[in-house]
Amino acid sequence: MDLFEHQAKELFAEYGIAVPRGKVAHTPEQARALAEEFAAAGSSRVVVKAQVKTGGRGKAGGVKVADDASDAYGKATDILGMDIKGHTVHKVLIEEASSIAQEYYFSFLLDRANRTFLAICSAEGGMDIEEVAATTPDKVAKIPVSALTGVDRARAREIAEAGGLPAEALDGAAELIEKLWMVFVDEDATLVEVNPMILTSDGRVMALDGKVTLDDNAAFRQADHEERFADKAAEDPLEAKAKAKDLNYVKLDGTVGIIGNGAGLVMSTLDVVAYAGEEFGGQKPANFLDIGGGASAEVMADGLDIVLSDPDVKSVFVNVFGGITACDAVANGIVSAVKLLGERGETVDRPLVVRLDGNNAALGRQILTDANIAVVEQVDTMDEAARRAAELAAGSVR
Ligand SMILES: Nc1ncnc2c1ncn2[C@@H]1O[C@H](COP(=O)(O)OP(=O)(O)OP(=O)(O)O)[C@@H](O)[C@H]1O
Ligand SMILES: [Mg+2]
Repeated sequence: MDLFEHQAKELFAEYGIAVPRGKVAHTPEQARALAEEFAAAGSSRVVVKAQVKTGGRGKAGGVKVADDASDAYGKATDILGMDIKGHTVHKVLIEEASSIAQEYYFSFLLDRANRTFLAICSAEGGMDIEEVAATTPDKVAKIPVSALTGVDRARAREIAEAGGLPAEALDGAAELIEKLWMVFVDEDATLVEVNPMILTSDGRVMALDGKVTLDDNAAFRQADHEERFADKAAEDPLEAKAKAKDLNYVKLDGTVGIIGNGAGLVMSTLDVVAYAGEEFGGQKPANFLDIGGGASAEVMADGLDIVLSDPDVKSVFVNVFGGITACDAVANGIVSAVKLLGERGETVDRPLVVRLDGNNAALGRQILTDANIAVVEQVDTMDEAARRAAELAAGSVR
C-alpha cells in the first residue's frame, strides 16, 4: 500500500523526524483558512501540494508556493481537480514554506534482485534526481543495508557521507536517516523515500517530501495500517467486495472474465486469452481471479458473482486444473454455484466456457455434461477454451 505524502509525513513525525507543519485541505476555502492559521502562527508563505500517489507532482504544476492566504486560495483552486499522470487531485497539503539552502535525496528500499535492503543517498536531490542518476550515477550512493545489523547513528552518518552531503548537514542527516530506518523496520515498509531532504538556511535537516510503501504481506501484524491509511474512495468496488470475501481479484479492462485455481495458472490464462482475443477484435481479460485450491461451491459462487458484477464482462472462462481438489469437486462446485446464484436472484446470464483438466477430469466433465446447464460450454484444451471465450465475448456467436 502506497501512502499519500501527508500520511507519510504524519508517520515520520511520530518517529521524531522533522517535517514542516502542514494540514490537508479538500477545498480552496479550507486551503485559505489553513493558510490564515499558519500566518497567525508566524509563517505567511505556504506551499500548496497536490496529494496524489505518483511522482513528479512539482514538474506537473502540482506544487506551488503561495505568498498569503488569498494566494493559497487561488493556487488550491488551480491544483484541486488537476490530473497528474492519470491521478485526479482531490486534496492538497497546505504546509509552511521552508527556507531551503540545499536539497538532498534519501531512500531506503528493498533490493529484491540482491536480496538485501538498500540505502540511496545523494547531495544532488530534488526534482531532477532521475536525471542525476542517469547522467552522473557516481553522485548517487547506493549502500546495501544488512537486515541483521540495520542502521544506527554511526552507520547513518557513513551513508550521508557516502552520498556527498556537506559537513554542516551530516549530524542532522544522520539523525534523520537513523529515524527513517526505524520507520522502515517498525512499520514494515518496502520503501521510504525523502526527496528532497533539505538543509534549511538556519542549518536544520528536514524531510520536505515523503513517499512510503507499506508491505501488504505484513498487514497481519500492522493492525492499524488498513484502518489508518487505506484509500477507500479510490478502491475499485469490485476489488473491495472480493477482498471482503478473501478472494484474490484484480480488475482489468477487457471483456473476458477469468476464473482459475492457482495464481500461476490464472496468469498464464490471461496471456492465452489476450493472445486468442487478437483474432476477435482485441478481446482481452476482464480480470484476474484466483479461487485457490479449495474451490468449493461457495467460493465458486462468490467468484462468479464478482466476475459477473462487472458489466464489461461478456463471457467467462473458468480454467481449472484439478489437483488436491479434483475436477469432480470443482464441477459440482460450478453446478451448485450456478444454482446458488439463481436462488440469490443473480441468474448467470452470460456464457461460461469451462475447461477441466488434471485429477478426475473425465468425471468432472461428465458431471457438467449431465447437469446440462444452458450457459455452460465445455472445451477440453486451454488454448481452444480461450479462443472460444474470446469469440463469445466479441460477438456472442452461439
Ligand atoms: N514545504 C516546502 N517549503 C518550500 N519548498 C517546498 C516545500 N515543499 C516542497 N517544496 C519545493 O517543491 C519541490 C517539489 O516538492 P516535492 O518534492 O514534495 O514534490 P514532487 O515534485 O512531486 O516530488 P516527487 O517527484 O519526488 O514526487 C521540492 O523539491 C522543493 O523545492
Ligand atoms: Mg519530491
